[in-house]
Amino acid sequence: MVKVLLQDQLIDREDAKVDLEDRGYQFGDGVYEVIRIYNGKMFTTDGHLNRLFESASKIGITIPFQKEILKDLLHQLIVENDVKLGTVYMQVTRGASPRNHVFPDSSVKPVLTASTRDYPRSIEIMEQGFKAITLEDIRWLRCDIKSLNLLGNVMAKQKAIEAGCFEAIQHRSGMVTEGSTSNVSIVKDGVVFTHPANNLILNGISRQVMLKTCVKSETPYEEKPFTLEQLMNADEVFISGTTVEIAPVVEIDGRRIGEGKLGPITARLQKLFQAEIEAECGKLQSLSV
Ligand SMILES: Cc1ncc(COP(=O)(O)O)c(C=O)c1O
Repeated sequence: MVKVLLQDQLIDREDAKVDLEDRGYQFGDGVYEVIRIYNGKMFTTDGHLNRLFESASKIGITIPFQKEILKDLLHQLIVENDVKLGTVYMQVTRGASPRNHVFPDSSVKPVLTASTRDYPRSIEIMEQGFKAITLEDIRWLRCDIKSLNLLGNVMAKQKAIEAGCFEAIQHRSGMVTEGSTSNVSIVKDGVVFTHPANNLILNGISRQVMLKTCVKSETPYEEKPFTLEQLMNADEVFISGTTVEIAPVVEIDGRRIGEGKLGPITARLQKLFQAEIEAECGKLQSLSV
């Protein structure tokens, strides 16, 4: 029987019920995280849990568990569900109370839930690359918070899929921000550029691992916004994200990017990214390119 986490209890999936008036359900009033599982172990757990607690604190939610206890509960859930390669999704809402925009009083407790999923690595996308579209970033101005409100991201992703693409690269008046479910970086003349971690993007944990691999490999990088024109004329474009790791974008809005295939710097960062995973979670299947 598949288990899920409800507060600090592992219960059967079928027994997990949330209140109709949970504020996560009614207002999207909560925050979430997704952690990758390799070889049954969570990758960059502290980074994700720190961001979960920070996102919660930015919207005035106090998570009623210590980080270490939550880590332990997630670990138990993964073991119980026997997930070897997958993800663990968790969310914390402000709790259930009669619908009212105003925060409820302190007797209303936040609701934590978590569930696991088997999820293979996106090897084909990582090796062959994928197509993307660009579109205006219509989201709110606190994209640093990993909020349950994902309508802007959902609509952007849907547009990409309808256009036969995998990801939507968003921009604000021509300045590239991020993907609908990923961070975007470009490579020009050997330098990696990615949007600075401010309120306009989610500071991806994979983005942070990628920057660490730049440091380790002495690949120059700048956390600096770039324009749509720079994106289209880049030598290489890639995205980073928990489920996709690092993956090349080979065509944008119908135009070929660079050589139209996985570029050398992206390939190097992918391998180093994999080495970071292996250092924490053990050996993985090698990438063939
Ligand atoms: C909007 C957005 N940006 C960036 C990312 C990448 O973040 P991470 O590397 O922590 O998965 C995500 C991941 O879900 C995302 O939804």
